[in-house]
Amino acid sequence: MPYVRPEIAAMSGYVPGEQPQGGKFIKLNTNENPYPCSSAVTRAIEATLRGGLSKYPDPMATAFRTRAGEIFGFPPDWILCGNGSDEILTIVTRAFVGQGQLLRLPYPSYILYKTLAQLQGAASEEVHFERDWSMSERFAEPRDDLRLVFLPNPNSPSGTMLPAEKILGFAERLPCPILIDEAYVDFADTNCLELVRRSDKIMVSRSLSKSYALAGLRFGFLVAQPHVIRELEKLKDSYNCDALSIAGATAAIDDQAWLAETRAKIIATRERLTAGVRALGFEPVRSQSNFVWCPHPKVPVKPLYEQLKANRVLVRYMNYPGWPDGLRISVGTDEQIDACLNLLKGMV
Ligand SMILES: Cc1ncc(COP(=O)(O)O)c(C=O)c1O
Repeated sequence: MPYVRPEIAAMSGYVPGEQPQGGKFIKLNTNENPYPCSSAVTRAIEATLRGGLSKYPDPMATAFRTRAGEIFGFPPDWILCGNGSDEILTIVTRAFVGQGQLLRLPYPSYILYKTLAQLQGAASEEVHFERDWSMSERFAEPRDDLRLVFLPNPNSPSGTMLPAEKILGFAERLPCPILIDEAYVDFADTNCLELVRRSDKIMVSRSLSKSYALAGLRFGFLVAQPHVIRELEKLKDSYNCDALSIAGATAAIDDQAWLAETRAKIIATRERLTAGVRALGFEPVRSQSNFVWCPHPKVPVKPLYEQLKANRVLVRYMNYPGWPDGLRISVGTDEQIDACLNLLKGMV
């Protein structure tokens, strides 16, 4: 296709995890929440539907920003809503990274960051995690062309976190903004939200897909200083969040009791999963997230992924060049994790 921009023609495009539509799978491959969302969400969506969808939604999702702001201790103008946190990442990349400029990301981490740089005709630079998933000071090294840094915290696929103080140190040395991607932070012991008050170079993105069991609704948000949010607003589609998602997301964030209960169940199952795979000879990484990264020092893991899939259990096989490959197993219900572990027992 000769009319497409050369940088688009040259890229292969981001490939999301498998989403089988039909057939019964135990789905442990894209870090979805195995529990149904809060019933308040369904009620809110049904009420909105009854009111009809003939009018455009609130372009700024004020109801969500107000309620989320109360919960997290920020005025609404510190919050920008998006169609999933992926859209937030897109908006931020478009705002800060132009053609030929540089975006930095850690490696291995979320593959989409690199794709976002490619879409801009920008370059990306991967700074490798250490083998213990810590990060060296090279991550904060200034470079003339550096315009934006992404840091998932917790990281995927490792599920590990860098301490907030360390990230603040990075931000202070960096010549550009840093976006801390907290898509999984509700399963962790700490978070970096307070850092946003310290510097306008620090932004934090959150997702309702995992912890609030709303991957299908598509809702995420960014917290940053108001003058940063005002710039970013210019890049979003006018109605980037639809009326149903705004209603559902507002009800979800309002139900913090549901979150606490579900989070506790998932963390308990995560610990069982970690112990279970360790007993099978894997070397799982201690996770602060709702998945566990499971390399195996002796057994090739790709056939395990394939055999699990043949038995209708879907996990994510990941192979990052330069790193041992592994299975990233999302934390399902106890029954789902038992089914997965029982199958693995017969394979390793
Ligand atoms: C690190 C990370 N950030 C962001 C996202 C996107 O989440 P959302 O569903 O909110 O777009 C994902 C989804 O897998 C992720 O792994």
